[in-house]
Amino acid sequence: MLFRSCKEKACVKERVVAPCSPLPSEKPEAMASATLLKSSFLPKKSEWGATRQAAAPKPVTVSMVVRAGAYDDELVKTAKTIASPGRGILAMDESNATCGKRLASIGLENTEANRQAYRTLLVTAPGLGQYISGAILFEETLYQSTVDGKKIVDILTEQKIVPGIKVDKGLVPLAGSNNESWCQGLDGLASREAAYYQQGARFAKWRTVVSIPNGPSELAVKEAAWGLARYAAISQDNGLVPIVEPEILLDGEHGIDRTFEVAQKVWAETFFYMAENNVMFEGILLKPSMVTPGAECKDRATPEQVSDYTLKLLHRRIPPAVPGIMFLSGGQSEVEATQNLNAMNQGPNPWHVSFSYARALQNTCLKTWGGQPENVKAAQDALLLRAKANSLAQLGKYTSDGEAAEAKEGMFVKNYVY
Ligand code: 13P
Repeated sequence: MLFRSCKEKACVKERVVAPCSPLPSEKPEAMASATLLKSSFLPKKSEWGATRQAAAPKPVTVSMVVRAGAYDDELVKTAKTIASPGRGILAMDESNATCGKRLASIGLENTEANRQAYRTLLVTAPGLGQYISGAILFEETLYQSTVDGKKIVDILTEQKIVPGIKVDKGLVPLAGSNNESWCQGLDGLASREAAYYQQGARFAKWRTVVSIPNGPSELAVKEAAWGLARYAAISQDNGLVPIVEPEILLDGEHGIDRTFEVAQKVWAETFFYMAENNVMFEGILLKPSMVTPGAECKDRATPEQVSDYTLKLLHRRIPPAVPGIMFLSGGQSEVEATQNLNAMNQGPNPWHVSFSYARALQNTCLKTWGGQPENVKAAQDALLLRAKANSLAQLGKYTSDGEAAEAKEGMFVKNYVY
C-alpha cells in the first residue's frame, strides 16, 4: 500500500504476509461425506487434487513505503535552527480580522497601511534575532514590504529569523458535535505551501482547538488530530516544518487534573495519526498549551505546579525525536507565561522547551506604540524586553524582579478566536 507520494529517494520495501489457514468449515475433509459427493455441482473425485490446488490461498504481497522525502535534511535543519538555545518564536500571524481587534484597542482603523506599520515596527526591532529564531506571519505579511519598501521576509532573514506562515483557514462549527469546532484549510494546501516556500517561508502553523467545557467529544478530538496529521504530512512534502498546534482552550471552571487528562488524550491521538501519515518527527515542532487550571477555576496553580504537570504530559506523550516544544501563551499574562516557561527549564529536557507567543510578547509593545510614530522606539524596547525575558526563561535563568504591574495582567478572552 502506498501511503505518500513516492519521491525519487523513497525506498520501497515488500513484506510477504502468510496466507490464512482455512476456517474449519472450509476444510476439504469436511466436504468428503458420501451425501455431499452425490451432489452434481461437486467435482469428480479424480479432480479433487486440481481443485484444491486452485482454491489454495496465495501469499499476499504488501508494498510499504519507508518515507524519505526530498526535503528531509532541510526540514531537520530548519527545525533545529528554530529550536536553538535561548531563542523562541514571535507569533505575529493574527488574521486581518484579529489584527483589526488589536488595532481597535489602541484606537486605530484596520487598514493595510496600519497593519504594515505595526508589523514593520515588530520585525525591525534592533537585535531581535538574538532572542527570536522564527516569526509566524499571516499571508498578507509574507508578501508585504516594510513602510520603507524592504521585503519583510528579507528583514527577517537579515535578523537571522526564519520566516513562517499560518496556513490554516480558521475554525468553523463541527457538525454532529457538542458545539465544537474544526479547522479548515486542507483543500489546495499543497499548492499554497509550494508558493509560500518560493516566497521564503520555511515553516508553517496550523492551529486547531479543543474545548474542555464542551466535552471534548471523541469526534472533535479525532477530527483535530487527523487534520493536524494531514497538514503536517503535506507541509513536510513541501519543505515547510509543520508547527502542530492543538490548543486546549483555557475556557472553563475545570481543575488542572482535568486539563491533564484531556491533553493526554489529544496528544495520543495526534501522534497516532501523525505516525499513520508517515510524518517525520525530527522535522516537526509542537505548539501545545501549558497544562493549567481552566481560566474560571478558583484554584490557581503556581509556576512549579504548571511545570510539573506539563513536563509529565510531555514525557508521557512526546517522543524525544521531536526537536522543539514551543508553547503558546493562550491568554496568560506576559509575566505568567515567562515564569511558567522558566520553571520548565530548571532541569535538562529531551526537547528544546521554548515559546511561540503572540499576546505574551506583543501586548505591552502594542499599547506602548498606540499608533504614534514617536513611540516606535519605546514600543520596540518593550518587545525586546519581553523577548529577552523569554529567552532567559528558555535557559532557566529568568527572575521576575522589576517586572511592571501591567505585564502581570491576564489577557484571557472567552471564546478567543485567532
Ligand atoms: P497566543 O500566544 O496569543 O496564545 O497565540 C497563539 C498562537 O497560536 C499564535 O500563533
